[in-house]
Amino acid sequence: MKKRKGLALFASDFAKFGILYAIANARNQTPTPLDPVENWQFWTGESALIEFLIKAYPSKARQNSYMQSLWEKNHADGIEAHYDVSNEFYDLFLDSKYKFYTCAEHLSDTETLEEAQENKANQLRSLMRLNGNEKILDLGCGWGAMLKFLKDSGHTGELHGFTLSKEQLAYNQQTLGFSVSLANFVTDPFKDAPYDRIFSIGSFEHVRPHELKSVYQKVYDALAPGGFAVHQFFSYEREPYPASVLFGQMFFPGSLLSTHEYHLEVAQSVGFKITHDSIHDYRPTLRAWYDRLVANQEKALQIVDVETYNRYMAFFPTSWTFFNNKESNLHRIVMEKS
Ligand SMILES: C[S@@+](CC[C@H](N)C(=O)[O-])C[C@H]1O[C@@H](n2cnc3c(N)ncnc32)[C@H](O)[C@@H]1O
Repeated sequence: MKKRKGLALFASDFAKFGILYAIANARNQTPTPLDPVENWQFWTGESALIEFLIKAYPSKARQNSYMQSLWEKNHADGIEAHYDVSNEFYDLFLDSKYKFYTCAEHLSDTETLEEAQENKANQLRSLMRLNGNEKILDLGCGWGAMLKFLKDSGHTGELHGFTLSKEQLAYNQQTLGFSVSLANFVTDPFKDAPYDRIFSIGSFEHVRPHELKSVYQKVYDALAPGGFAVHQFFSYEREPYPASVLFGQMFFPGSLLSTHEYHLEVAQSVGFKITHDSIHDYRPTLRAWYDRLVANQEKALQIVDVETYNRYMAFFPTSWTFFNNKESNLHRIVMEKS
């Protein structure tokens, strides 16, 4: 099928996803790399027009009809579209030691991304309350960052991970030598259960609202008695603005966030006791990834086409605005199996 371009693409994006998406995609299609200063300002500066567009369109009916079709989509297709761009491309902006693709913890303005990611990993490890021998499962392990951090910290118990990205699988198995499976934690059974700890960092964002209950139930069932789960993910802080729901499809096709309240309600309904819930700031991490991508523009364009580069240039500042507007917050939650 011939790829739509120019006005035809704008009109079809507008009809399907709303005008904010259409504007962003038109900017992504420009044949040259986006100007870093203008682009950051465009998406994060105070603009009455952008604010109006986020809040006004598309209508609930339009969103609902599109969402129905999304729910039938295969998870793996959406994951591959985002994560299987190229491992070398991600290397250009992720922290060099662990390759976390999730919110770090900047304890001061002067810390590097590497330090901030280690802060986050340390804090998550503390929440897991480990003695070093536990059998642990990482749901959505990415490039093995937290598994590597745990191993480097002296953990000797079994470490397992699931991912849906083939590029990540190859990196985990061949480069890091971890026990990672290409498995869908929404639809596949959690093999090798029970686990003493199950954690996820930045992967519950991919679970659609109607799937949440069965995922929490599976986590609960796969934990050994007295075991517990630690999850870091972002969710809507309240009902989302209209444009947010469909705009996210540009970056994560087939994924759909839930509200935070709904996460807690569902986790408790399967038997979990919530013993920790804290909020963390995603904006410094997004800015750090943006700056690193910009600094590596030339290398990036040897790996991906301009459209892909521009899409990531849109991803970081639009996400920054999403958190800055308090539409979403990044939470860390501990849920215990009684
Ligand atoms: C944002 S990345 C985070 C990776 C890693 N946890 C980190 O902190 O860098 C999200 C991860 O979740 C995985 N993922 C998302 N949905 C999944 C699913 N249904 N089954 C298995 N993995 C999934 C992706 O493959 C990816 O590895």
